[in-house]
Amino acid sequence: MKKYLVIGNPIEHSLSPKLHNYWIKENNIKAIYEKKKISENDIEGIINEIKKEKISGINVTVPFKRSIIPFVDELTLAASSTRSINTIFKKNNKIIGDNTDIGGFEQSLKYINYSVKNKKIFILGAGGVTPSVIIGLKNLGASKITLSNRTKKKAEDLKKLFKDLNIINWGQIIDFDMIINTTSLGLKNTDEIKLNYSDIGSNKLFYDVIYNPKETNFLKKAKLSGNKVKNGEMMFIFQAQLSFKIWHN
Ligand code: ATR
Repeated sequence: MKKYLVIGNPIEHSLSPKLHNYWIKENNIKAIYEKKKISENDIEGIINEIKKEKISGINVTVPFKRSIIPFVDELTLAASSTRSINTIFKKNNKIIGDNTDIGGFEQSLKYINYSVKNKKIFILGAGGVTPSVIIGLKNLGASKITLSNRTKKKAEDLKKLFKDLNIINWGQIIDFDMIINTTSLGLKNTDEIKLNYSDIGSNKLFYDVIYNPKETNFLKKAKLSGNKVKNGEMMFIFQAQLSFKIWHN
């Protein structure tokens, strides 16, 4: 019986085991997928378990997507260009760190037939998932990406990785076609992102990478002022599907 894991902290909220175990059963695969709350000190031991093939693959979530990088042997282009790993496997005796968040994000936009080509995009946040969103947008031909983060230093660090990123102060706003929340604001029902919705206008796309709750206040208010909205559910499902394909083909 092969074993797979999602590691993170916190991890209780993760729906990955439900999804993967469902697909494992559907495909008659002899495997189990579990979740494990870990601390930084546990990473080395878990990677060793993959080396010894006691674990066949892992998903990595907040806050370890970046800090796990030094523990793997090789990064795929997707993982190295984002400095972010969400999927790990062993190939030719090497531990490989990959990133399926980029593909998950891209596929979620294709799924709703939304084209970002030549569009102006406004990103809120500069956390673990943000580089994957940026690369996805670039792959799909977005014309201009502006980013704002409460801690400006983190936005400026991202600009070192993506030179043509336009950075503005937290609380400032610019004209956009699509706005994406990559912050953790919205996980709690009382969380609000302070935006002047009446200044923004209508017919824009508001995208939240959060999928639980299904509708954050960010999306609720956007809808009320006549905008299209999309939560992170399909991004979550597609990144999982891409990991599943890597492990089980
Ligand atoms: P990490 O930063 O460890 O990767 P994350 O959950 O991926 O964690 O990212 C959290 C994001 O949500 C960050 O952009 C964070 O902003 P800071 O860099 O300023 O911390 C943002 N965030 C979290 N709480 C916030 C709040 N109350 N107001 C504004 N932004 C917030």
